[in-house]
Amino acid sequence: MQKNISWGGRFEKGPEAAVAEYTESVSFDKALYAHDIMGSQAHARMLGRQGVITPEEAETLVRGLDAVRAEIEAGRFVWKTELEDVHMNIEARLTELVGDVGKKLHTGRSRNDQVGLAFRLFVSDRVREWQDLARALIGVFADKADRHRQDILPGCTHLQPAQPVSLGHHLLAYAWMLRRDVARMVDCERRARVSPLGAAALAGTTYPLDPPSVAADLGMYGAFDNSMDAVADRDYLLEALFCASCTMMHLSRCCEEIILWANPAFGFVRLSDGYSTGSSIMPQKKNPDVAELMRGKTGRVYGSLTALLTTMKGLPLTYNRDLQEDKEPFLDADRTLSASLHLMAGMLTELTFNTGRMRAACGAGFLNATELADYLVGKGIPFRQAHHMTGAAVALAERNSKPLEGLTLEELRGICDRINDDVYAVLDYEAAMRRRETHGGTGPASVARQLAELRAWLGRKENA
Ligand code: ARG
Repeated sequence: MQKNISWGGRFEKGPEAAVAEYTESVSFDKALYAHDIMGSQAHARMLGRQGVITPEEAETLVRGLDAVRAEIEAGRFVWKTELEDVHMNIEARLTELVGDVGKKLHTGRSRNDQVGLAFRLFVSDRVREWQDLARALIGVFADKADRHRQDILPGCTHLQPAQPVSLGHHLLAYAWMLRRDVARMVDCERRARVSPLGAAALAGTTYPLDPPSVAADLGMYGAFDNSMDAVADRDYLLEALFCASCTMMHLSRCCEEIILWANPAFGFVRLSDGYSTGSSIMPQKKNPDVAELMRGKTGRVYGSLTALLTTMKGLPLTYNRDLQEDKEPFLDADRTLSASLHLMAGMLTELTFNTGRMRAACGAGFLNATELADYLVGKGIPFRQAHHMTGAAVALAERNSKPLEGLTLEELRGICDRINDDVYAVLDYEAAMRRRETHGGTGPASVARQLAELRAWLGRKENA
C-alpha cells in the first residue's frame, strides 16, 4: 500500500495491491511515452508564451522532458506501477531531474485532456503508418497484375465458374479495395489529429491558455470546440478501429482465395517456403499458415472495435475511468494490422501463379456460355430467347461430356440455324476476356487503364 504522490493529498493510505494492479495502465500505456512528452513540451511552451510560467521555466521543462525521453529510449527509465500510468511516471521523473519547477508542468491541465492529446497523436501517427503500408501493398498488387494481364482464370460468382477474367483484373480488385481503405484512413486521421488540450478536467480552465497555438505547435489540424466533448469523446478511435477492421476484412478475403488456390485440387498458386509451414505428422504437407492466421486474426481486430463500441455506449459525460480501456484494443489492432499488411506484401511478392492450371480450369464449367448467348443476340435473337437456346446447348454439351466449343456445327445449328462457323472464334476463352473492354471491365486496355490510374495515385503525395 503505497501512497500515490500525484493525487494522494486527501488519502490516508494508498490502494490495496490488488487494486493498484487492477487500475494501473503503465504496463501498456508506456507505448505512448514519446507522444505524451511531445504534448507536454507543447503545453510547457504555451504556458511560457502565455506568461503562466516564465520562459526560463518553460525551457527547463522542455529540456527536462528531453532528458526523460533519452532515459526511456536508452532503457534506463524505471517504470513504477504505483505511479499508475505513463503520464505520472514521466512527470515524477521530470521533477526528480529538474526539481520543483517540474511541479508546474501540470498547470491548467488534467490527465483527462493530457491522455486525450497523447493518444490522439499516437493513433494519428499509427494511422499514417497504416497508409504507407497499404500503399506499399497496393504497389505489389499492381506489379503482379501488370505481369498477369493476359493470363486468364475462371472468374466466379457463388464460387462457381462464371466467366473468364484476366488474373491481372482479379488482383487489381484487391488494389482498389485497399485504395478505398487508404482514403478512409486519410479521412480518419483528419479528425484524429485534433488537440483536446486546454479542456482540462472537463470544463476548461481559469488560466489564460491558448489551445489553438498548442495544436499548431504540434502540427495538428486544430483544437477542440467543446471541453466536455474533448475529454469524453473517442469516436476518432472507433473510426480508426473500423479502418483497421475493414482493411483486415479485405486481407482476409484475399487470404481465403490464396488458401483455396493453394489446395492441389485448384493448384493455382504455389506458396514460397518462407510463407508456409509443414506438418509434424504428414510429411507431404505444406500449409498456408500465414494466410490462415491473417484470416483468423481479422476476428481479433473486429473484437477490438466491438470492445470499444461496447465500452462507450453507456458512458455519461465526461471522462470516466472506463476510457482507460481504449488503449489495449487499439494497441492490439495496430500490431495485428501493421504486421498483416507487411506480411501480405511479402507473401504476395513470393507467390507464384500456375497460369497453366488457371487456363486449363477455364475449360470446365461452360465459362463461354455468355459468349454464345451474346453471339445469338448479334444474329438478331432477343436476349431472353438466346439465353434459353444457350441453356439447351449447355445441356447438350454436358450430356456428351464436352465443352461448348466441342459441339459440332451441326449440333449447334440444331439448336439455332443462324449459327455459323464464326461461332468458334467467339467461344474462345481469351477472346471472351479480351472483348470486355467496357468501363472497369477485364479487357487488357481496361486493366491497363486501371494500372495507370492506380500508379498515378500511388505517385501523388497526399492521396485520399
Ligand atoms: N490512465 C488514464 C487513462 O488512460 C489517464 C487519465 C486518468 N484520469 C483520471 N482522472 N483518473 O485514461
